[in-house]
Amino acid sequence: MTDEAWLREVPDDRPTVAVFEGLTMYLTEEEGKRLIQRITGRFPSGQLLFDCCGSLGIRLQKCVPAVRNAGATLHWGLDDPYELESWHDGLTCLDTVRSVDIPGLEKMPASGRMSMKVMAHLPGFRAMGRILRYRF
Ligand SMILES: C[S@@+](CC[C@H](N)C(=O)[O-])C[C@H]1O[C@@H](n2cnc3c(N)ncnc32)[C@H](O)[C@@H]1O
Repeated sequence: MTDEAWLREVPDDRPTVAVFEGLTMYLTEEEGKRLIQRITGRFPSGQLLFDCCGSLGIRLQKCVPAVRNAGATLHWGLDDPYELESWHDGLTCLDTVRSVDIPGLEKMPASGRMSMKVMAHLPGFRAMGRILRYRF
């Protein structure tokens, strides 16, 4: 994703939606910024849909079994989704949904539902993850 070549193979003559799930937190902020600027700079218009991790999530990453067990390291914590609007002319945040508010949480196993409920009541924790949508 941070490599420059792949994007040149995507046709650039039409509105384009870029979806990247579970990626931004693995990038540094500079890599994420560069990726977003390359996408928004290539296509005439479109939308970006992706999830992000807040800075508290980055600080507490080793408490998350999936991250710990994978031996992964998360880097980029994004607390203010509107900050990205200055990264490209016309980039506009359309939706920001906190992970604790995502529709369908009732389908999670009881332990997951419980954690989400607890996190939703703790300032700081309730914004640990978000799903974002932008237009450009
Ligand atoms: C949690 S998984 C998300 C999987 C993805 N949503 C999917 O459906 O395949 C994180 C993914 O980010 C990828 N990743 C992390 N850093 C990357 C980078 N700098 N360039 C490309 N991929 C990266 C990892 O290889 C991994 O596949």
